[in-house]
Amino acid sequence: MAKLAASSMKLEVFDSSEAVAERAAGILAEVLLDPKRAPMGLATGRTMVAVYQWLVPLLQQAGANALGHWRSFNLDEYVGLGPDDPRSFAAYMARYLGEPLAIPAARMQLPNGLAPNPHLEALRYRQQVQTHGLGLQLLGLGENGHVGFNEPPCEAFAPCRCVELSDATRQQNAAAFGGEAKAVPERAITLGLADILAAEEVLLVVTGANKSSVLRRVLQEPPQQLVPASWLQGHPNCLVLADRPAVCV
Ligand code: GLP
Repeated sequence: MAKLAASSMKLEVFDSSEAVAERAAGILAEVLLDPKRAPMGLATGRTMVAVYQWLVPLLQQAGANALGHWRSFNLDEYVGLGPDDPRSFAAYMARYLGEPLAIPAARMQLPNGLAPNPHLEALRYRQQVQTHGLGLQLLGLGENGHVGFNEPPCEAFAPCRCVELSDATRQQNAAAFGGEAKAVPERAITLGLADILAAEEVLLVVTGANKSSVLRRVLQEPPQQLVPASWLQGHPNCLVLADRPAVCV
């Protein structure tokens, strides 16, 4: 395990994205099976599909009773999409974790993308997260350096809020919307960097050569607004799991 000179972040590098996913799932399973741990912060995206595919059998082996204490909070949700829309993050969570593990939707919280006022919904969601506190926060990395939907430029003190998605992010996420960037919602509700940095632990999972240039900036450049994930350098307990393509620029 490498300790990076510029910060307290730790980096583990694996030969394949599958090995990254297996390692991430092992860490998550240990935390999720511990009833003493604070709720987990969960993430969506393509990177997490493999992580959750490794995680589900690990948790199933432990038996249904072992998950009775489950409570998790997701990072973000598109404004205008609800759980019945297969493109929503709520539907993603039900598909990959909720249904295979029989976790009631009420124990797997996300911002409500259908709330009439998304700004008020962001305030409500932040309050709910703060009431429980986050134990381990799982994160993927956007190609533009975003975590959650904290688009650049973004300050470390940004709270949970309703944001406009950048063209780059709508392009990056178009696959789930029939390949049409214009079909991707223009806004989302996301936990802010402040909420993420308040978690006890952070696990950042990064795979693929398309993330290598931004990951280098996250790990090696001074923390800055233009690379929102670089603020994680200020977290006292942040582990980065990456495959070789993601660390070779
Ligand atoms: C998305 C999500 C993030 C996710 C990131 C990376 O837009 N809001 O939470 O981690 O972008 O996604 P992917 O894993 O598909 O590259």
